[in-house]
Amino acid sequence: MARSAILNVMVQAAMKAGRSLSRDFGEVQNLQVSMKGPADYVSQADRKAEDILFTELSKARPGYAFLMEERGLIEGDDGQHRWIVDPLDGTTNFLHGIPLFAISIALERQGQIVAGVVYNPAMDELYTAERGGGAFMNDRRLRVAGRTKLIDTVIGCGVPHLGRGQHGNFLVELRNVMAEVSGVRRLGSASLDLAYVAAGRMDGFWETGLSAWDIAAGILLIREAGGFISDFAGGQNMLDGGSIVAGNEIIQRALLKTVRKPVTPR
Ligand code: IPD
Ligand code: CA
Ligand code: CA
Ligand code: CA
Repeated sequence: MARSAILNVMVQAAMKAGRSLSRDFGEVQNLQVSMKGPADYVSQADRKAEDILFTELSKARPGYAFLMEERGLIEGDDGQHRWIVDPLDGTTNFLHGIPLFAISIALERQGQIVAGVVYNPAMDELYTAERGGGAFMNDRRLRVAGRTKLIDTVIGCGVPHLGRGQHGNFLVELRNVMAEVSGVRRLGSASLDLAYVAAGRMDGFWETGLSAWDIAAGILLIREAGGFISDFAGGQNMLDGGSIVAGNEIIQRALLKTVRKPVTPR
């Protein structure tokens, strides 16, 4: 599989940040950890990985803007491109020694996501996609799962925690989905959740309250793997609105309907 120059830049940056995360994962008890809000942790490992990504990406493409979880928005003078970066997606897993975490890098050109990388260094799984070029895990082409009945599916979700404040309708959504599928999973890393849907490991996924850096790369992975995505309203405002429902064409539509079912009295 031949990668474009820009995708290579992203892969090299992700691998370098991945080596840093892997070193820190081995010594997790020695890391400095602080709280950004209730149950919202950030560690030295997040910051180190973000420093590496910022340095590598700006060296390769000076002038591109950034949206990064820890540094926030950094203006660029290029006017067309923006990196959307989560240096460690799954910090809670990481700090508990659970090897489900990833680096997520997306590139936007004129507001459109054109390239995405999600890398889980603990499992050495590298997910890549370019607009129009398909999605891959390491060198294997990805395709979303083909199941068409909700009853046969395994669906991923995100569980809101204390830091999210309002838990919204999550319990209603969960009850609706549980009643119709064969299993529900919560991995703890939204970028990996989306990568797993692209890889056909999970048939669908829904979550609300996400940020652009959690999902930008994963959205492209799913689209390029033949999947469908919408926000909770059925539109395409996922990056700004933070809600997402994903799957193949049939499962995405069915899941959207199911999560949005009104509460039924018991
Ligand atoms: C979190 C993960 C998690 C999702 C949270 C995110 P972080 O990202 O993606 O799966 O449920 O909403 O904040 O903080 O570990 O990068
Ligand atoms: Ca975080
Ligand atoms: Ca995240
Ligand atoms: Ca993060």
